[in-house]
Amino acid sequence: MPRYFVDLADLAEARGVDARKFSVGIGQEKMGVPPPDEDVVTMGASAAREALEQVDQDKIDTLMFATESGIDQSKAAAIYVHHLLGLPRNCKSFEIKQACCGSTAALQMALALVAQKPDRKVLIVASDVARYGLNSSGEPTQGAGAVALVISAQPRVMTLDPEWGAYTEDVMDFWRPNYMDEAVVDGKFSIKVYLKALTESWAQYARESGRTFADHDRFCYHLPFTRMGEKAHQQLAKLAGVTEPDMSLLAPGLHYNRIIGNSYTASLYIGLISMLENTAADLSGQRVGLFSYGSGCMAAYFSGVVSAGYRHALRMDRMQTQFETRQALTVAEYETFYQHALPRDGQRYKTPHHTTGPFRLSGMESHKRLYESTVTAAAEPTNIQVAAAG
Ligand code: CAA
Repeated sequence: MPRYFVDLADLAEARGVDARKFSVGIGQEKMGVPPPDEDVVTMGASAAREALEQVDQDKIDTLMFATESGIDQSKAAAIYVHHLLGLPRNCKSFEIKQACCGSTAALQMALALVAQKPDRKVLIVASDVARYGLNSSGEPTQGAGAVALVISAQPRVMTLDPEWGAYTEDVMDFWRPNYMDEAVVDGKFSIKVYLKALTESWAQYARESGRTFADHDRFCYHLPFTRMGEKAHQQLAKLAGVTEPDMSLLAPGLHYNRIIGNSYTASLYIGLISMLENTAADLSGQRVGLFSYGSGCMAAYFSGVVSAGYRHALRMDRMQTQFETRQALTVAEYETFYQHALPRDGQRYKTPHHTTGPFRLSGMESHKRLYESTVTAAAEPTNIQVAAAG
């Protein structure tokens, strides 16, 4: 997650809105704000660097980068990450897009690749900056973050079930034309479509798996804001004839998103990590239902069983350190970061130094983004200059 955040109580005050609208009505407390030298590549590479710590990089067969805030119309963000991490040259690297559901599309594709070659692994990076207009109704649902998933035939965290439900419909609930930096959204409509896609994809999943609501111990949902997850869970329970679902089971999975904000492709998986890290009970062997929604729209319902020993793969202490060392921005400082723009005329430009992460966007030259590693450990390469190929 970025090093900076805005407290939504401050945003509410600045916008003249009752703070409870954000904290209760939308269910958000803070939103992550990327500084000018942080983008989807630097956040994604940082997440992947940690995910690969105990993995033999030579086993990584494919790197898929899912994002809906891409930095280039042609070159995949995956290729920058491939370089920053020093992955093997024979590792395929490409980008996948379908709004917030791109990461889940990548996941399903990765399962097929690993089934084909069980001795290989697939790295999925999901990284996004959720950006709406200043002072718009979407503004409090912004955020930023990244997740990296290692898909393997010997999963340490979760074994996915083979049954999937899917739903696709051509709707204009949220989109971002190529010439815009902010998403365009029909907010109320997007909530309706999200819930319809949940009903439809669940129906196919339930038909194919024969599982009912009661066969799932926990639930995670795509979280554009945490109240959306609660609405989704209430709807799924209602469909199953459960009038008073135990909402306390959902709470641990909402915790991180409530203080990071929307991270589009990463959001469902940050919710899953939040649930695994913040549930005191041992979840080994428990089945989790997962709903992924990408506006536009495509959705997927699927499930997985938590692996025994999953806690060894968690990094709760590091998450806590990241939360504790984040810095609050005033609304004026957030607006300055928001308005920062990279040059579009090819001039040489150095970005101001803000991020403390292992990678940063150091600037631009001749329309090429330049990245550097700020890791100082002797074994790590420093000051890598990555120039986009012409
Ligand atoms: N105290 C407590 N609650 C209050 C309140 C107060 N003082 N004032 C308002 N509320 C409640 C409202 O009753 C409402 O709750 P319900 O939905 O349960 O009725 C909630 O706060 C929000 O109020 P509004 O509907 O009036 O808010 P809004 O019109 O300003 O917009 C929004 C809310 C549509 C979510 C907007 O923030 C938005 O467009 N966000 C971006 C789009 C989005 O996130 N869509 C989600 C589905 S699409 C998706 O999931 C993909 C993705 O990642 C984008």
